[in-house]
Amino acid sequence: MMSSWKKTGGIILKIENVTQTFGGVVAVSQLNVDVKRESITAVIGPNGAGKTTLFNCVTGIYSPTSGNIIFDGRDITGRAPHEIVEIGISRTFQNVRLFAGMTVLENVLVGSYCRTHANIFSSILKTRLHRTEESAVETNAFEILDMLELSHLVNQFAGFLPYGLQRRLEIARALIAEPKLLLLDEPAAGLNPSEKVELKKIVENIRSEGITVILIEHDMKFVMDISETIVVLDYGKKIAEGNPFEVRNDANVIDAYLGTRGHDFGVKL
Ligand SMILES: Nc1ncnc2c1ncn2[C@@H]1O[C@H](COP(=O)(O)OP(=O)(O)OP(=O)(O)O)[C@@H](O)[C@H]1O
Ligand SMILES: [Mg+2]
Repeated sequence: MMSSWKKTGGIILKIENVTQTFGGVVAVSQLNVDVKRESITAVIGPNGAGKTTLFNCVTGIYSPTSGNIIFDGRDITGRAPHEIVEIGISRTFQNVRLFAGMTVLENVLVGSYCRTHANIFSSILKTRLHRTEESAVETNAFEILDMLELSHLVNQFAGFLPYGLQRRLEIARALIAEPKLLLLDEPAAGLNPSEKVELKKIVENIRSEGITVILIEHDMKFVMDISETIVVLDYGKKIAEGNPFEVRNDANVIDAYLGTRGHDFGVKL
């Protein structure tokens, strides 16, 4: 059988001419992006540039106004969020979305529903299939929590965790769905410098497991240190794309960040 790598030529995600409008607002405008398999790609740009909207289009929260999203050689445009998770894309959100009154382990298990096939009836009857799936998922959850150095906290309530660990728990929850592509919306926001160093290691570990990572981030040092490719959005359009060196020296990027158009990224490139 031809490997999926050959099938899509090493590109796991193709954003093809995607536009997303909300009334008169063009949040994403005729965007084309190819994401390399097993790469770490950053999407940057000023507030309101369309970064989160792009994630929402890819994960099925919005169905793009026009254009196509091709994942692993398959057109996933307009698929529902739960289908997208099953197909192999999971994400975290810009704001923490944990169940504060549930434990760390329970929060991770919530992310696994799409991977277990036992239905509601077997859940009620607790059939053997259900129990087998449940224990396999739990084993997987413990492995992921171990990798994210959260395993000593499995029985803690998520709401009591410090903010940095809550953000890490969200990554764990996204991983239990066994994604091929992981989207992280501002994973370093609100983290202190040592937590950012740990996050960098975690993201690199995830990638070394064969998972492609796309992250939205405002912290330029973090972006420049971790990314192979950076895509720069401004007013919904791609204004630059390249490796950190290329992007840092791109005239359009410098103008968008430091120019006279009223943007303030709050960072030095
Ligand atoms: N559901 C929606 N309805 C109407 N307008 C929206 C909606 N979602 C996003 N927008 C608008 O689309 C534009 C892009 O927003 P988006 O949240 O994608 O930006 P962003 O790049 O993620 O910004 P930030 O860095 O602040 O998170 C903004 O003008 C925003 O107000
Ligand atoms: Mg956003």
